[in-house]
Parts: sequence; structure tokens; C-alpha cells
Amino acid sequence: MSETPVQLAEKGLYVPLERGPTYFNYHWLRDACPTTIDPQTRERVFDVTALAAAPAARAARVTDAELEIDWANEDHVTRLPLSRLAAFAASGRNPDPADLPRRLWYADHYPAFRRIPQADVEQTEAGRARLARALVEEGVALVTEMENSDESLTRLVNCLGPVTPTAEGHYFEVRLEIAPTNLAFTAGPLEMHTDLPGEEMAPGVQFLHCRANTVEGGRSLFLDGAAVAEALREEDPAAFDLLARHEIPFFYRHDGWDYRAHQRVIELDARGNVAGVTVSQHLQDDMDLPQEVLDDYYPALCRFLRLMQDDRFLCRFRLNAGECIVFDNHRIVHGREGFSAESGQRHLRGCYTDRGAAWSTYRTLAAAGADGSDQADDAPRALSA
Ligand SMILES: [Fe+2]
Repeated sequence: MSETPVQLAEKGLYVPLERGPTYFNYHWLRDACPTTIDPQTRERVFDVTALAAAPAARAARVTDAELEIDWANEDHVTRLPLSRLAAFAASGRNPDPADLPRRLWYADHYPAFRRIPQADVEQTEAGRARLARALVEEGVALVTEMENSDESLTRLVNCLGPVTPTAEGHYFEVRLEIAPTNLAFTAGPLEMHTDLPGEEMAPGVQFLHCRANTVEGGRSLFLDGAAVAEALREEDPAAFDLLARHEIPFFYRHDGWDYRAHQRVIELDARGNVAGVTVSQHLQDDMDLPQEVLDDYYPALCRFLRLMQDDRFLCRFRLNAGECIVFDNHRIVHGREGFSAESGQRHLRGCYTDRGAAWSTYRTLAAAGADGSDQADDAPRALSA
């Protein structure tokens, strides 16, 4: 077995990885020791503050597959697989099966929305993984052949995570109401928005189960907010920067509730890519940025909102009875054309689950071998736009 010496430094050491000598901090290495994780609970049972002195290596060596550290201030040896260190060093964080590149989409994408029958999602890991992966990559999917019952949506949501309640309760019914608490419950058009930005953590994944839709008009409008935001970055970097930097206020008020929260209109991930957007003029509160900042912020916001009406981005289609559209409420922007209330029935049953829960479901499925990637049978199904 070959051994390679490891260069020690004051607060860490350099591991000779294939990518070159790579620095790791001693605290990080001590915390990463496999013995710190309880095999039963899989939680950390090591308290770094209980060490008598800051961790430091007395000696360290690399064998074929492991880094071995003999610690200076305690009677303990840590062995870490080099593969784990290399995987961590590659991105600076633990590998994540749900960390897939977003596939941006545009106005022509509706026929290619991933479609999965409800029974496949409920009864097969492959079907469930296909739904979850579509949400990670594209932020949208259609579940087809939905059973027409209240329980149907609950069963579907629970395939990804528990139902997340809101002020409206666990579910909401989008249909005409005599005294609506929300513009959605009228026959009017609904401008492009993400849901409930007045909540501290706006709902993550939204489900809209179409139970009936025989009205004239009322087409659904969907776009990829990340695609629009990336286009804004190209066309007007200063506007993009303002929307990504500043938080603005949103609300949700009615009898018995008064939600308020600040959100960034454009949300970036750790790599600087657009992770999502938050827009809702009908739930936007009085702007409380300094008035001088608003001189530039308002034009930037107007430009972004106008870009969302551009034919490049907007998908218009009829949501059909028996379909459930599932989408990332932090990325996908949706709205509705007005409809003729007397022309028929329109009823959608909606609810939410957390993105964290949905991504967790995807990770466990991927770890079990169902990664939900495109298959030969992934052609669009049941096109009826
Ligand atoms: Fe909505």
C-alpha cells in the first residue's frame, strides 16, 4: 500500500487529490470524521466545543483510498475516504442529486411539458421521480388522468410531501365566489404572479387540479420566471441588479389576517444563477425602498413585468378537466385570461407542499436508483391544447 505524506499547516492540511493539493480546515475534518455520525439516528453525536483545544493534526498520511489523521490533542484517529473529499472539493459542498441545472423554457414549451399519469406517480417510484425531476429542472409538470375527487389531490401531493397550509387552509377552491377573498375567485383576468409573497416563506410547490373547465376563455398563462430574468440580465444588467439586490414589500390582508413580508423580485442561487422570481402586483404593498432608489427601481420592475408579457415567454393553454398542473411557485409565474361566467363551469382545487419536501423526495428516489431522467417514452402525451 503506497503512502503519501500530507503537508500540515497551522489550522488545516493539504490533501493530495487528483485535482492537486487541496486545503481542508482541521475543524471541518474533525467534524467530518465518520465516527461523529450515530449510525442509528444518522445525526451528529460529536460536540466540537467539547474538545479541550482546537483540533490539529499530530500526523497525517494518505493511503490509496483514505486520508488518515492522528489528532494532536485527543486520542483519536480519523479516516476519510479520498473519494468523499474529492467530491466535496469539486463544488465546495456535498454532492446533491437535486442540484440539477435548470432547463429554461419559453413560449413554445407547452407541448413538451412533462406529463405523467396520476397512477404512475402514486404507484411507481419511476413515475414519482419523473414528476419530482421535472419540477427541479423545469419547474413545471402536468399530472394527467386525475381521479375526480377531493382525495385525489391529497394523494398526489403526499407523493412529494405533506400539504403546506396557508391562510386559506390546507386547500383552496378556484371557482366563482359571491364574496371572494382573492381575485382568483372571480371571473376576471388574473395578471401574472407567484402565489402568496406576503408569507414569510411563500409556498414552494403549487398544485392546481382541474376538476371542471367548460367555460369560454379562462386559458391558463404560464411562463418560466428564471428564463425571463436571465433575458433581463442580458438586455438590462442594471435593472437585473436592482431587482436581485433589493427586497420589496408584499401583503395578504383580509378579515382575520394581515400577512406582510419582504422579498427579492429576482432570487439568485449560490452560483449567481437565477433561482426564482417573486412577482404579484395585486399583493404588492407600498414600496418602502428610499424614494431616490425608487427612481431607478420602478422602471426596472416595470421593464421586467413588461418582459413577462412578451410572446417569447408566455405559454397560453387550456387546463383540462382531469389534469393537475404542478409547478415551482418560486420560479414559475402564472395567470389566467378572463372568462365568461355564464358559459359553463370552471373549478380548480389547489394546494401546496414545500420545495424542501419535494426535493427531499427526489433525493431519496435518486439514491434508490430512480433518477427520473428523460426516457424514450417521455414523448408528450395527451396533447389537447
Ligand atoms: Fe395563483
